[in-house]
Amino acid sequence: MKITVVKDYDEMSREAAEFMAQTIKEKNNAVLGLATGSTPEGLYSELIKKYKNGELDFSNITTINLDEYVGLKGDHPQSYRYFMNDKLFNHININKANTYVPNGLAENIEEECRNYDKRIEKLGGIDIQLLGIGNNGHIAFNEPEEELSASTHLTGLTQSTIEANSRFFDSMEEVPKTALTMGIGTILRSKKILLVASGESKAEVVAKMVSGKITTKVPATMLQLHSDVTLIIDEAAAKLINK
Ligand code: GLP
Repeated sequence: MKITVVKDYDEMSREAAEFMAQTIKEKNNAVLGLATGSTPEGLYSELIKKYKNGELDFSNITTINLDEYVGLKGDHPQSYRYFMNDKLFNHININKANTYVPNGLAENIEEECRNYDKRIEKLGGIDIQLLGIGNNGHIAFNEPEEELSASTHLTGLTQSTIEANSRFFDSMEEVPKTALTMGIGTILRSKKILLVASGESKAEVVAKMVSGKITTKVPATMLQLHSDVTLIIDEAAAKLINK
C-alpha cells in the first residue's frame, strides 16, 4: 500500500481530489467507483471546484457506487443515490444516466446484484475505486463476518454500523438494517483503489488494515491483496501505524 499522510481533513480532501483528477484527465471516459459517508464529502467539493474552474470534464465519465440501503427511495435524503446527486452529480456536467447506484428497491434483488456486476464487467471494469472505512473495518457494506461474499450481494448491517450511521437519521429505528453492496471480489477487481480516512476514531482500524493479519473479521485487511492501493489519510488516522 502507498500511504500518504497529510495534516488534516481539508488537506486529505484536496490531495484525494487531485489523485482522482489525474485518472479523469488521463482517461476522459474513465469508470469511477464512488463511495458515500462523511469522509469523501470534502473530496467531492474539491472535484466540483475543479469542474467549475474548467480543470475537469465529466461528460464522458461513468460512475458506479459501492452500495445502497434496501428500502429507501432515491429521493429519500439518506439514500446513497440522493447523497451522490446532492454532493456531486447535481454540480458537475455528468450524464446522470451514466451514474449507477445499486437499486435498493429492486423487486428481484438477486437479479439486481447479478446485473450490477455484469454492468461493471461490460464497462471494462472500474478504473479507480474510492473507499472509506468503517470503524469496524467494513468497506462498502462488507461487514466483519466469518465469511465474505465476492460479488455484489444483499447484506445485513452490524449493530455498530447501524449505530454509527444513525447520526444521519432521526432515530435508530429508521436506519435500514439491510443493504446492497459490491462484494470484496468486485472491489479487488478495480484497477486502482484510493482509500481515504480522517480522525482518531479511525486510527486503530487503519493500523489493522495496513499491517494486521488478513481476516474476514476486518474486511479492509483484504486490500493488502491488491497491488495498487493508495491511502490518503490524515495524521490523526495514521497515528497507530507502525513506522
Ligand atoms: C458507510 C458506508 C461506507 C463508508 C463508511 C464510513 O457505512 N457504507 O462506504 O466507508 O460508512 O463512513 P464515514 O466516512 O462517514 O466514517
